Amino acid sequence: MAFKDLREWMALVESKGELKRIKAEVDWKEEIGAITREVASRRGTALLFENIKDYHDTSCTQLLTGTLGSRGRVRMALGLPDTMRDREIINWLRGRLRTTIDPVIVNSGPTKENILKGDGIDLYNLPVPFWNPLDGGRYIFTLVCMVTRDPFTGEHNVGTYRGMIVGKNKVAVFLARSQDWGKHFTAYESLGQEMPVAAVLGWDPNLFMCSGSSVVGEEYKVCSAIRGEPVPLVKCETSDILVPASAEIVIEGKISTDPATYVMEGPFAEYPGYYAGMPEPRPVVRVECITHRNDPILVGLVAGATPGRYPSDGFFLKYFWPALMWSGLEDNGIPGITDITFDGWPEIMKVRIHKSYRGHAQQLATAIWGSKFANHGGKILIVVDDDIDIRSREAVDWALAYRVNAAMGDIAFFDTLGSPLDPSVPMEDRDIIKYGQSSWRRILIDATINWGLEPRPEWGGKRYPPLGTEITPAMQELITRRWKEYGLPD
Ligand SMILES: Cc1cc2nc3c(=O)[nH]c(=O)nc-3n(C[C@H](O)[C@H](O)[C@H](O)COP(=O)(O)O)c2cc1C
Repeated sequence: MAFKDLREWMALVESKGELKRIKAEVDWKEEIGAITREVASRRGTALLFENIKDYHDTSCTQLLTGTLGSRGRVRMALGLPDTMRDREIINWLRGRLRTTIDPVIVNSGPTKENILKGDGIDLYNLPVPFWNPLDGGRYIFTLVCMVTRDPFTGEHNVGTYRGMIVGKNKVAVFLARSQDWGKHFTAYESLGQEMPVAAVLGWDPNLFMCSGSSVVGEEYKVCSAIRGEPVPLVKCETSDILVPASAEIVIEGKISTDPATYVMEGPFAEYPGYYAGMPEPRPVVRVECITHRNDPILVGLVAGATPGRYPSDGFFLKYFWPALMWSGLEDNGIPGITDITFDGWPEIMKVRIHKSYRGHAQQLATAIWGSKFANHGGKILIVVDDDIDIRSREAVDWALAYRVNAAMGDIAFFDTLGSPLDPSVPMEDRDIIKYGQSSWRRILIDATINWGLEPRPEWGGKRYPPLGTEITPAMQELITRRWKEYGLPD
């Protein structure tokens, strides 16, 4: 579904009773973060903070959190009915991801209502929260769509990458070389140039969902396809980067590739639920221009999940990541996938297949680990046959219990790059300045029936004995008919 801007999206959410305006004065220092986290953990509404301490007379006075904080609101953003089940949503998204629509370029838009340059730039004029008690600073780039352009092809990338204010015109960012903007960064470095960037804060939530997912190709084209209509884009003031013409706030700047310009960034309460990405010198966006709408609405989120505590805007990952992974596997010619999901953490992905040859699960695992997804997903892969419902923990546990035999090669390890925010990896191995990324020893648990087991005639030519819990249809009919006669409750 296409929203012309953040405001149209908010109006829909509010009309459904899913947006709460907070009129009491709240402190940007920890209080907004704590409220957002508590409401997200209760699977509550989106929150619009309208009365923020120290931000009554600034050009920006409002902050929105949690708009994508429930399954229902993600469905709403995609324009899908409440009745649609998760697997159907993933399939719908896969269909959309197969097509692209070109964005359109327009001459101007509301995002140009105010243009600040030079002394007019002061990031502290925005009500950016100090989200969590031990954060290294105020994180302005959380619910951000960071736009860069490949200097050779001109292709745009839109990605979500964190950034902390380190001066009135400076934001230090967590830039990993294996991410798409990291590849652009390396390309600019080879040219001896700074990398232009534009951080988009506040637009149609569909763009953020694409930005935070490992989209292959240009996010603007994929997002246009998901919206069903083109993203209208306007040129930045200080570079040829294109940004949504009705974005609330756009922060334009340059990142130097010279390590001497790096500034300490971190830690931040990160998605694994820990303070991660410890303080280290990191690249800095030197802000050259801010454009914003009149009375702009800043957007932000709390990341981090531990059991019972949830991120404020993370639900879309459950749909986008499996859909993208599934399409990527199909594009690699890997057949037989019938479902992909993860509960809570994309590190643990579950895949259901219609197994048609020995090594099917291993082929699938190495394809995932060799793809863009490897940056954050699939540290532990569990693959099951298609008689197992991967959305049922009971069913997956049963398959793990009775279809995995490590002595027959059902568990495999593979060393690849990994998430630099996973605290189970020693700090020295996740030095992204030195290595560009981190390292993971990944695990495949092949919980499909091992084809090394011989089919047996006494089991009807199958590799496994018949299920002992089955009741024949005739006997089922008999006991159902006589149920009351036995004196058993319904
Ligand atoms: C809220 C949020 C914050 C994120 N922060 C970072 C980050 O700081 N650095 C990073 O490399 N990836 C981060 N990610 C993950 C990337 O957004 C994700 O891998 C995405 O695919 C990146 O876009 P790309 O594939 O175009 O590089 C974050 C994701 C979300 C949803």
